[in-house]
Amino acid sequence: MFNRFHYDYCQRIAETWYAIFQELDINQYKTICELSPWWAPKVEIPLTQLGYAWKVILLDKQQSFLDELEENLSVFQPDFEIVKKGENILESIDIRADILIWNHIIDDLILDYYCELEKIDVNDLYNDGNKFVSIRDSIQDDLSLIEDIADNLVDKFDSIINEEWYLLLAQYPGETEKNFGLDISIKMCKEIVENIKNRLLDSWFVEDKEIKKRAYEKLKTYFFESDDLLVLKKQA
Ligand SMILES: C[S@@+](CC[C@H](N)C(=O)[O-])C[C@H]1O[C@@H](n2cnc3c(N)ncnc32)[C@H](O)[C@@H]1O
Repeated sequence: MFNRFHYDYCQRIAETWYAIFQELDINQYKTICELSPWWAPKVEIPLTQLGYAWKVILLDKQQSFLDELEENLSVFQPDFEIVKKGENILESIDIRADILIWNHIIDDLILDYYCELEKIDVNDLYNDGNKFVSIRDSIQDDLSLIEDIADNLVDKFDSIINEEWYLLLAQYPGETEKNFGLDISIKMCKEIVENIKNRLLDSWFVEDKEIKKRAYEKLKTYFFESDDLLVLKKQA
């Protein structure tokens, strides 16, 4: 049930995305894809507010989250078409988009991947702080697992994004990491994003710092720092 608390949480993040979308002149892009959005329309609320009227593809491993997100968003009466894909981003997917957005998923993705390998129910971890911390410790030592995920994502981003368009990736320290004091986990996520970024820059992508600069100049407050946002453009 989308209550006031959920709305406020989404809205705080949505304001930052709103400024970024404005600078991108978002209405010119025919297809936008958000990966792993959960039930929270943090990215879709600002699209609605900006009158976006093309297509938004939502991909999440858990179909029920997508249904919930669509219902939560319906209050805002979006003009865009919603395409829901209940799929695993690490498996084979068939999507093309002009803008690919991911908002804070690397930590959840790693946890999910590890739990699937070890046959652990990921939902148990979110309810048990001690288990959560011990699993995080095991993951940090498993560098090959992290390499595998980074390899997979570099290929995925390259295949999803249409030429001349954008990857918008925000990875900031999450509430769970802050609450459990998981500084090492925050550092690990940053390193993975850096790894992905460098490899994309070695292929067809270039960094666009101007869009970020203009958006953050307008923002009085923001949910994530400019340094936590990566804007990459795929070359023709
Ligand atoms: C706890 S949420 C947080 C991330 C969300 N983007 C946000 O900013 O609030 C994590 C989401 O990642 C999804 N997820 C985890 N592993 C995934 C995978 N391998 N493929 C697609 N979605 C995945 C989960 O189903 C969940 O919706």
